[in-house]
Amino acid sequence: LIDSIVGGCEETTTGVHRLRSMDADGALRYPVFAVNDTPMKRLFDNVHGTGESALANIAMTTNLSFAGKNVVVSGFGHCGKGVAKKAAGQNADVIVTEVDPRRALEAHMEGYDVMPMDEAAKVGDVFVTTTGNRDVITADHFPHMEDGALLANAGHFDIEIDLDGLSDLAVAQREVRDGVREYELEDGTRLNVLAEGRLVNLAGPIALGHPVEVMDQSFGIQAVCVRELAENGDDYGPGVHEVPDRLDREVAETKLAAEGIEIDELTPEQREYMDSWEHGT
Ligand SMILES: NC(=O)c1ccc[n+]([C@@H]2O[C@H](COP(=O)([O-])OP(=O)(O)OC[C@H]3O[C@@H](n4cnc5c(N)ncnc54)[C@H](O)[C@@H]3O)[C@@H](O)[C@H]2O)c1
Repeated sequence: LIDSIVGGCEETTTGVHRLRSMDADGALRYPVFAVNDTPMKRLFDNVHGTGESALANIAMTTNLSFAGKNVVVSGFGHCGKGVAKKAAGQNADVIVTEVDPRRALEAHMEGYDVMPMDEAAKVGDVFVTTTGNRDVITADHFPHMEDGALLANAGHFDIEIDLDGLSDLAVAQREVRDGVREYELEDGTRLNVLAEGRLVNLAGPIALGHPVEVMDQSFGIQAVCVRELAENGDDYGPGVHEVPDRLDREVAETKLAAEGIEIDELTPEQREYMDSWEHGT
């Protein structure tokens, strides 16, 4: 089929990572737009969409509140920032675990506690992984967790939480609510895994995914990228391409118009001032 493929558009962070790896290995044989990396997708879908829908699904699936709870967010990337912000907005105490020193510092400056998972495991009431990585919460951590802790994944596949490791430690398992599986450890501690460790906002029993107000933007970018490939696909060789800024702006302008929001425009003088190196130093 390769010869007949004009191009592709990739929606997700992990998808773009994988395509970049294929590109580096010379295995990607048609152009792909990194839709995920556009401001109009990432700053809304990943941050607000994942933040809201992950927490909404955890709350609805368990009928529990975040208020006064320690919510441990693993990964302070786009999704993690959204989860942390919305959890703090619901009066949770947010703890962040990270592996990137700059992201960890960002979380610290946002006012969240930052610590390794070894420490967070001991105090968390709710755990939400948003790393796109594997083995973020493992058999090293489960035995130290509090009775009744909730474990949810809002990042990648069902490997961010090591469910095999948890099964091995458990002496009993049962479905305590639709979409909530309880693992009982030898000392009687019960840990609750939501949505089988799959994306809690998409795989839970009542999951609707992101609000339509952010998905329209993500699909808007997909649509203009498909149009660009149809009209100018020959301009792009095989590989991962950034979405041209004009397309991202077009979707932003369309969305603002749909919302009935007007903004100011740069005057010619302002434009000239901004572009100049002779003024303002
Ligand atoms: N649930 C959804 O609907 C939804 C929506 C968008 C993206 N995603 C997925 O969420 C994941 C994250 O996306 P993103 O845009 O936030 O990515 P990102 O690259 O902005 O952030 C990921 C963060 O996780 C950190 N990290 C990696 N391994 C870690 C570990 N072992 N412990 C702690 N932190 C670790 C990284 O340092 C990084 O800061 C991806 O897999 C993406 O595909 C899910």
